[in-house]
Amino acid sequence: MKIIIDGIECEAQSGEMLLQIAKRNGIFIPTLCHSDALPGLGSCRLCIVEIEEKGHKRIVASCLYPVRSEIVVYTHSEKINFMRKNLLMLLYARAPLDDTINKLRKEYGVADDIRFSGDPDEHCILCGLCVKACEEMGSFAISTVMRGVTKKVSTPYDEPSAPCIGCASCAHVCPTDAIKVTEKNGIRTIWNKDFQLVKCERCGKPFATEEQLEYNRNKLSEKELEYEYFCEGCKKVLISGKLKEIYRDA
Ligand code: FES
Repeated sequence: MKIIIDGIECEAQSGEMLLQIAKRNGIFIPTLCHSDALPGLGSCRLCIVEIEEKGHKRIVASCLYPVRSEIVVYTHSEKINFMRKNLLMLLYARAPLDDTINKLRKEYGVADDIRFSGDPDEHCILCGLCVKACEEMGSFAISTVMRGVTKKVSTPYDEPSAPCIGCASCAHVCPTDAIKVTEKNGIRTIWNKDFQLVKCERCGKPFATEEQLEYNRNKLSEKELEYEYFCEGCKKVLISGKLKEIYRDA
């Protein structure tokens, strides 16, 4: 089927998410809580767009909207820009010194002297991506705790969490770099817990925690485990070298 996004005709499959269709066609819609690997959170609402169907207009979150008919979409209408501006005002109040939020704030013309004032050290916008990533890993080490203005993401009682494997997937998906991970003298520290890092057998760079490798042993195939002790970069080099050998011998 065909849909129109900002005047551009786009091919869409029934049930495909509107955000994906826009992305595929090079149409930018701002997002914070969306990750292609962990879709469906819909918490930041920044990806809202206006859709027109049979003469009726309404606002939907594009990351959660499955297209089922030939709609017309406006990603930056006056109404949408106004709503995004308000959302950004609230996000800015929550995380006033965060670079990602400030970049978007300036883009949408949110003044820097709004009447709410947040904690200058706060970067977390409570989107929940980190919690989802941890759940997908099967660790369930972090969750949102407390309520209202004290709500935050943490381990139980802010203590080092036994199921945490130190993979830092939570930090990788965080849109605002709110999760602090440090690596010093072969030790990774995250969520108040220290992890010994294992060095890559090829380049010597510390690349994963012991617990991560243990986790992989239970998840990966024998073939994938051939490269267990190599970092991602070296793994790629080794695999492509192997492929070259195969082609040369063929
Ligand atoms: Fe759609 Fe956050 S990206 S709600």
